[in-house]
Amino acid sequence: MDKKKIYKYGLSLVNKERKDEEELSRILKEIVKKPTGNLLEVGVGSGRFIERICDDFKKMKCFGIDVVPDFVKTNNKKIRLSLQSAEKMDFPDNFFSCIVVVDVLHHVPNREKALSEISRVCKPNGTIIFRDIRPRHMLDKMEYKLVDLSCLMYNSNLPKYFHPKDWETKLEKEKIQIVEIREYSSQLDWLICKKIG
Ligand SMILES: C[S@@+](CC[C@H](N)C(=O)[O-])C[C@H]1O[C@@H](n2cnc3c(N)ncnc32)[C@H](O)[C@@H]1O
Repeated sequence: MDKKKIYKYGLSLVNKERKDEEELSRILKEIVKKPTGNLLEVGVGSGRFIERICDDFKKMKCFGIDVVPDFVKTNNKKIRLSLQSAEKMDFPDNFFSCIVVVDVLHHVPNREKALSEISRVCKPNGTIIFRDIRPRHMLDKMEYKLVDLSCLMYNSNLPKYFHPKDWETKLEKEKIQIVEIREYSSQLDWLICKKIG
């Protein structure tokens, strides 16, 4: 059974009301002043973001990676998809002028290594956009504390995430600066970042 089709169907159910492809497209159009060079999406999943970006930014060369073989297939011949992990990418240093990482980092076992790789392949002054878990309100924080605890108890693969104040330190270490934070929901934020030159 094609995992991509099942995943796309699941997404269409949860994403009926909110078109986050639109939201990312708006952010990119606003932020990326010179839409040329190479763009990477880390963890493409169904491909909904990279396909939209490729349509929007015709002058950019679009690349995407994922660790699930079914997710690195597309009918769009302009998108270069490959089976790679965020923690160890085959791309050369300073290769991308823009990188997007949406709802991926909390699935990656070694998030620090992934951040270091993302920084390595991004050009100085390049744009990096993350969307990830950043529980803000007390109840969300409590919920995620329970998630942390159950991960510890059962050594499971439940989402692992950085606490909001850790994000800044982890990114700073990799020469990535947060330029702006935009709230997506009470638990998810868009982090608009720049690789320091
Ligand atoms: C929640 S999905 C998000 C997919 C897509 N970005 C979206 O928002 O529709 C998480 C994706 O991250 C991928 N993923 C998990 N670990 C990864 C890793 N180490 N490197 C690259 N991708 C990874 C999964 O296979 C999955 O496609």
